[in-house]
Amino acid sequence: MSVPVVHRLSLNESPYPPLPAVRDAMRRAVAQAHRYPQFHPDDLTERIAAWCGLPSDHVVVGSGSVGVALQSLQAVVRGGDAMVYAWRSFDAYPLLAGMTGARPVPVPLSPDGRQDLGALLAALGPRTRVVVLCNPHNPTGSMISAGALSAFLRRVPRHVTVLLDEAYVEFARGPGLPDTAALLGAHPNLLVLRTFSKAYGLAALRVGYGLGAPELVERVRRQQLPFGINAVATAAVKASLRAGGELRLRVDTVVAERERLRRELAGLGWHVPEGHANSVWLAAPDRVDEGARALTLAGVQARHFPGEGLRLTVGGRKANDAVLTALAGLGAPRRAADGAYAERS
Ligand SMILES: Cc1ncc(COP(=O)(O)O)c(C=O)c1O
Repeated sequence: MSVPVVHRLSLNESPYPPLPAVRDAMRRAVAQAHRYPQFHPDDLTERIAAWCGLPSDHVVVGSGSVGVALQSLQAVVRGGDAMVYAWRSFDAYPLLAGMTGARPVPVPLSPDGRQDLGALLAALGPRTRVVVLCNPHNPTGSMISAGALSAFLRRVPRHVTVLLDEAYVEFARGPGLPDTAALLGAHPNLLVLRTFSKAYGLAALRVGYGLGAPELVERVRRQQLPFGINAVATAAVKASLRAGGELRLRVDTVVAERERLRRELAGLGWHVPEGHANSVWLAAPDRVDEGARALTLAGVQARHFPGEGLRLTVGGRKANDAVLTALAGLGAPRRAADGAYAERS
C-alpha cells in the first residue's frame, strides 16, 4: 500500500505561498489576461537590473533560470561542442545539453561532495564551449569560495562560456561568499543564473534571469521567445521586489530551520555536511536507502539517489519535525567486526 505524500520536500521549493501583496498583484494581472505581455520583457529587465544595481544591458530574463540556461546554450553551442559540468548535479544540465546538441562531459564530484574545480578545468578541451558551476551546489549544498571561484574563472579560456548557476544563492551564509556581480567586469564569458523560484517562492511562474557582460547578454536575449514571459508572472515578480524585506525574513527562517535540521540530524548520528541551499544532504555510507524508505512511510517525499544520498528540502517546522522523527536512529552505517563498513548504502 502506498503512503500518501504529506510533506513534499523533493524539489527544493519554498514552504511559503506567495505573500498577500503578490497575490493581489497577480489577481490584477489576471483581469488583463486578454492582453499580450511585452514582446520582450524590457520593463521587468529594467526593474531587475535596478534591483541588482546593474545597467539593464547586463540582464536577461527567461522562463526560469533553466530557460535562461537553455537560451545561453542555444546562443553559444554548435553541434558537437562540449559542455562540461560536475556530476552529480541539477538534473536539467544533461537534458539541456541534449536539447542543444552539446556533448555532455560530466566530471565526478570530489569524495566530499564538492565540485572538483581542478578536474573541471582539466576536462576543458578544444571543443568545449560551456562549463557549468552550480553554487551553492545541488544536491550537496556545498559552496565554492570567492577565492576558488576567482582562480577558476582566471583559468577558463575566454571562448568558453561559464554558466554559474546561483539558484540558491540567497540561502548562502558565512564568510568568503563570492560577489559574482562584481566579477562580471573582469570575465566577459561569465553568465550568472538566478531565479525567483526558490527564495522568492514563485516556482510555478517560471521567471529567472541571467547577469553578464552586455555582449554575451545580447546573444542570449536573441534566443528569447517573443511574448515569452507572461504578464501574471511579471506582476508577481515586481510585487516580490517591492516586498524584499518580508521575503528576506522568510529566507532567514528557512536558513534557521536548515541549521536546526543539520544540528538535530547530527545528534541522531547522521553525518550532515555544511550546506548553503534550502536543503540538507545526507550521503552514503550513512544509511540513506533505509532513510528514504522511512521517510516514504512517514509521508515525506525527499529526493533519493539510491546508494548515493538523500536531498531533503527544508520545509516548514512541521515537515522538518516529521523528517527528524522518521530518521531518528538510522544514521550511522553498519560496521563489520573489523570496523569496515558492512554495507555502503
Ligand atoms: C541548481 C538549480 N538551478 C536551477 C533550478 C531551476 O530553477 P528555475 O525554476 O528558475 O528554472 C533548480 C531547481 O531545482 C536548481 O536546483
